Amino acid sequence: MKKIKISPSILSADFSQLGNEIKKLEEGGADMIHVDVMDGHFVPNLTIGPPVIKALKKKSSILFDVHLMISPVHKYIEAYSNAGADIITIHPEATDNLNLSILKIKELKKKVGVSLNPETKIDTILNELHQIDLVLVMSVNPGFGGQKFIPEVLTKIKELKKIQKEKKLNFDIEIDGGINFENCKKAVEAGANILVSGTTIFKSNNGDIKKNIELLRSK
Ligand code: DX5
Ligand code: ZN
Repeated sequence: MKKIKISPSILSADFSQLGNEIKKLEEGGADMIHVDVMDGHFVPNLTIGPPVIKALKKKSSILFDVHLMISPVHKYIEAYSNAGADIITIHPEATDNLNLSILKIKELKKKVGVSLNPETKIDTILNELHQIDLVLVMSVNPGFGGQKFIPEVLTKIKELKKIQKEKKLNFDIEIDGGINFENCKKAVEAGANILVSGTTIFKSNNGDIKKNIELLRSK
């Protein structure tokens, strides 16, 4: 049984204080930080790019779990690797050749994640599962923090866990979107071992980050 890891999404952080917010996450016991990169094309929102990630990485030692909601994504992978991403997660719909993009990330010696939107089937990545370090299962449609959890994705996680066992693979299963104190236990029971959370970690209990991370992990 894998240890449950918490990857707070900085999308819900105070963007005018990003460096300090990341320090608070590190001190609060986060296992990594989830950096939501959005291009206003793959998703209807625009956030940060390589220069900001590079500046933040210089000030912290925590793992950067970088979720690229950008397309086309292949030609930008190296820039995010150079900026300091430790895990680079891409969406299959954002590349002309998923296999080549996965190989590019591996060539750069980074952990490779592939993200499944709520309507994207596991079949889309079945042939690549053996090369993937992490499957990021979206429990909201990507683009914004603070959205409502889509419970149907728990079935997808259970299916993914079953396939993982059958194929004797060891990728992490990360769930992302609308995770809170009420649904995190179900997500873990379904098979997720990394929980992404933005709103719950930054906004609950008067923004007590340490308490919120501990609560999510302990459920
Ligand atoms: C949405 C992002 C998520 C989101 C999670 O497109 O990929 O990581 O920021 O935020 P909450 O936990 O607020 O749903
Ligand atoms: Zn994300």
